[in-house]
Amino acid sequence: MKKTLQTAIKITKAENSKIGQVDFENINFGKLFTDHMLICDYEDGKWKNPEVVPYGPLTLDPSTRVFHYGQAVFEGMKAYKDDQGEIFLFRPDENFHRLNKSSERLAMPALPEGFFMDGLHALLELEKEWIQPGFGNSLYIRPFVIATETGVQASEANSYRFMVICSPAAAYYSGDVNVLVAEKFSRSANGGTGYAKAAGNYAGQFYPTNLAKKDGYQQIIWTDASTHEYMEEAGTMNVFFRVNDTLLTAPVSDRILDGITRKSLIQLAEHLGIAVEVRPIKVAEIIAAAKDGSLKEAFGAGTAAVVSPIGGLGHQGEHYTIDKQEDSYATRLKNALMEIQYNKNEDPFGWRYKL
Ligand SMILES: Cc1ncc(COP(=O)(O)O)c(C=O)c1O
Repeated sequence: MKKTLQTAIKITKAENSKIGQVDFENINFGKLFTDHMLICDYEDGKWKNPEVVPYGPLTLDPSTRVFHYGQAVFEGMKAYKDDQGEIFLFRPDENFHRLNKSSERLAMPALPEGFFMDGLHALLELEKEWIQPGFGNSLYIRPFVIATETGVQASEANSYRFMVICSPAAAYYSGDVNVLVAEKFSRSANGGTGYAKAAGNYAGQFYPTNLAKKDGYQQIIWTDASTHEYMEEAGTMNVFFRVNDTLLTAPVSDRILDGITRKSLIQLAEHLGIAVEVRPIKVAEIIAAAKDGSLKEAFGAGTAAVVSPIGGLGHQGEHYTIDKQEDSYATRLKNALMEIQYNKNEDPFGWRYKL
């Protein structure tokens, strides 16, 4: 990805930094934001005036379109600091392209690359101290675009706002999760918005996930909407299964988010000599593998946790426990990917982006 650094970005610094009051040992992820944010507006057919300003609330008219028709897309990415204090992003070009792909699906205008990358440079330059050193610590970056035109006509807006906010994230281990295989609810359908990081996709997940939580499951494995016979995604992550020594993951489609962690893990697994099959995965085959002991591992893959091991699967009222493996692919892949992200190892794929 080009380092353009040609976009003129106005910078207004915060008078005081909040960083002195932050207890980085006890970060409540996603609740605390850094001192600045990036704002850029789309008006009269053009993105204009990107600015870094002190972090703070927005004032929006109650009829602003995003509140009514949900024209909102977002991204999730991280900045990492290595032992020398250098700062890296991981495949930011993928986030940039996916943001525009999501926007296109919601009839929102594409953002120029320079506004995205130069905006990130300008913002992160001011927030360097918020990126804590240490394997597992990071700064979570949330770019998003919302429709800002006022008026409740049910059509796409003529004005939009692109923003980037940042939240410090600590290394954490949430433990293995239990996941329920969806039999009734769906997060996406053929021809829908599942492949986009559209805000509404997430709103639709909360209710079924709350029902699953009542039964002791933290997440849902979404299945295809028409038959519920194929495994698709786990909560807000892509999902992998290890049957004997082969890793299986579903191909991306218009129902599945093209996860950057997923595609990186596929390449990394192949590089490490692990057999990977990208193909439709029947729920029945995974349940059969759980019954006969050939289901060795299952895990979610996403930016937030990199790899999140699944300890048990619920399906049709039965619960299947997945025992821990000594030679865990989940652990190997997580470490290998994090070593690239934190500049602790070679980056044979050119994924690291030095700021
Ligand atoms: C629905 C969904 N699937 C998969 C992922 C994983 O994508 P990535 O690896 O790019 O973070 C995410 C989020 O981050 C997601 O929201």
